[in-house]
Amino acid sequence: MDGSHLADFLLAKDYLVFGVERRISARENSNTRHLEDNPNFVFLTGDMTDQNSLLRAVKESDPDEIYNLAAQSFVGKSWSIPEQTSNVTGLGVLRILEAIRESGKEIKFYQASSSEMFGNTTNIQFKGDKKRTFKLNEQDEFYPRSPYGVAKLYGHWITKNYRESYDMFNCSGILFNHESERRGIEFVTRKITDGVARIHLGLANQIALGNLEAKRDWGYAPDFCEAMWMMLQQDEPDDYVIATGESHSIREFLDAAFNIVGIDDWTPYIVQDPQYMRPAEVDVLCGDFGKAERELGWKPKTNFEELVKIMVINDVQLLSQDWEWSPEK
Ligand code: GDD
Repeated sequence: MDGSHLADFLLAKDYLVFGVERRISARENSNTRHLEDNPNFVFLTGDMTDQNSLLRAVKESDPDEIYNLAAQSFVGKSWSIPEQTSNVTGLGVLRILEAIRESGKEIKFYQASSSEMFGNTTNIQFKGDKKRTFKLNEQDEFYPRSPYGVAKLYGHWITKNYRESYDMFNCSGILFNHESERRGIEFVTRKITDGVARIHLGLANQIALGNLEAKRDWGYAPDFCEAMWMMLQQDEPDDYVIATGESHSIREFLDAAFNIVGIDDWTPYIVQDPQYMRPAEVDVLCGDFGKAERELGWKPKTNFEELVKIMVINDVQLLSQDWEWSPEK
């Protein structure tokens, strides 16, 4: 999702973009199909677990900027494949940094860090006051709650360490959840908007979910990709929280999504299935993007209601080409 949005953004700025993809037997290219005929976009084959492939990718593309958006990015599966998650999401970052060093060239590097690194934020976010949620910033303590979060924390620190050790231009964007119509179906937002579209069109009658109480700070992925680029245009490299500053529960997401197709009471359509509960949960995430606003001039353009609407309308249209949204529906 992020790779395709960032490629669109950079191509609009007249960049020549190289996208590294790994070989898989069934190639899933719904997000990148539109890039295939673009003369300014080139696919390279590489793998985050294969150092030589990354060295070759850097050599072939001879880049000025590298954005590392590669990861085993699904938190829920990181308990089933913890070693692969650590290798790709954690050590993969080290391999790119080593490939940059080997190139001998000054290449600006963006690392996709994650709000999952904050993890258990009970002490920070409530400060003993359960009625208030304090927003997380770059100074707050990390306490990851999943193998994915632990791997992301390694990637974050090795990025910072190579910046300090070798004077590299490395930035980490600590991105809170960001979604779009291109989101993978396993993530809760897209699972809901796809399910709502199916229910609306009579193609399904329920959505099975896990914990409905979790709260996330959900932004729109294209807005967040702009922030990645902005970080690399600064004079000095630094780390930035990118968020919307608003947190909503899964229940509130359900309210907003069902509301778009005219359903007020969604309870008959939702079943809770223990298989979607996580061994350790991140209960609430809410970010403070103040530093990004002050230093980069960045702030989110799309609010929660607009995000949900974009996603629901897109899913209904994907499943039924002749459906048009109107506020009365
Ligand atoms: N995926 C999923 N499926 N999540 C569910 C479900 C379900 O059926 N039911 C409830 N949830 C809850 C999860 O327990 C979690 O609290 C929340 O919905 C969000 O889950 P995801 O959409 O899978 O995202 P995430 O917050 O775990 O991780 C995403 O955001 C991170 C940034 O904070 C991913 O994009 C990560 O790659 C990213 O780093």
